[in-house]
Amino acid sequence: MDAKDFFMNGEFLSVERAVISIRTHGFAYGTACFEGIRGYWNEQDQQLYLFRLREHYERLLRSCKILQISLPYTVDQLIEITRELVRRNDQRQDVYIRPVAYKADEMIGVRLHNLTDHFTITAEPFGNYIDITGLHCGVSSWRRIDDNAIPARAKITGSYVNSAFAKSEALQNGFDEAIMLTHEGHVSEGSAENIFLVINGDLVTPAATENILLGITRDTVIELARRELGRITRERQIDRTELYIAEEIFLCGTGAQIAPVVRVDHRSIGDGKVGPISSTLQELYFEVARGRRPEYRAQWCTPVYTQAEAHQRERQALDHPPDARLHHPPDARQSSEVLD
Ligand SMILES: Cc1ncc(COP(=O)(O)O)c(C=O)c1O
Repeated sequence: MDAKDFFMNGEFLSVERAVISIRTHGFAYGTACFEGIRGYWNEQDQQLYLFRLREHYERLLRSCKILQISLPYTVDQLIEITRELVRRNDQRQDVYIRPVAYKADEMIGVRLHNLTDHFTITAEPFGNYIDITGLHCGVSSWRRIDDNAIPARAKITGSYVNSAFAKSEALQNGFDEAIMLTHEGHVSEGSAENIFLVINGDLVTPAATENILLGITRDTVIELARRELGRITRERQIDRTELYIAEEIFLCGTGAQIAPVVRVDHRSIGDGKVGPISSTLQELYFEVARGRRPEYRAQWCTPVYTQAEAHQRERQALDHPPDARLHHPPDARQSSEVLD
């Protein structure tokens, strides 16, 4: 269901009341940082699982530190506020949650220090962000912002102008997504995704020092590849032309999920079809994120509803199966695929 409430500065407010002034510092100067978090509805469990919520809030607090924003909440409190927000909205479908910490003063003057910090969270229904069946990417003429310009390891709203330049250029040139290079000309990341290549059977991804956002999905992929496929990921510098000769490429991120790339700059990747490592990791990711793998559920999936609420819903769904189907989107990967 569409959000009824947002969280703003310590209160749950109706969507209509949760507004900011056009003079807000964060709006004028991009002095804000945020997170993008997915919640996956599990029809069988009648449960909404928030994927790696703790890691997202740990990263938000790191971004805040870089941006000199202080939030009056611990990670545990942020987790509870988020669960409460989704419960209030009675959301029982795939959702996207966006916490934003921002400089709130209504004044002219660009700086980070001695300003008032505010915090909001929104939660809304969400399907696919980009195609997950095979992308054609173009290497962007826009370079990824450098750590000494706007640090990419912090998820700063202002730096998404860099992403927007790259994304629009890619789409307007007929590609599906951009791959950005660092100023030195090494592969960095997509406009809002990390990138993995398979080279000689090895998984390879740009190192943390290549001006990337250290993605939580990237970390999930590294972990799943190690635990489930017995493959260690090499984090290193990657040349542009390694993209052209890779056996497989995929992008990953909270929005993108796992999105295989089948062409780069008009060159087929491998045989031009989604490769076996990409598709296996994609399948695993969806299983794990939707809470279908108990061995990962406790570690990575935060349930929104209490056991009692979930059981009550489960019983209702069993008693009234046709109604349940009308009220909830289909479960599993189709739900993302259909919603887009
Ligand atoms: C620039 C950028 N890189 C990488 C990612 C992937 O990060 P995560 O997997 O934590 O969502 C994102 C998405 O949030 C992003 O915006």
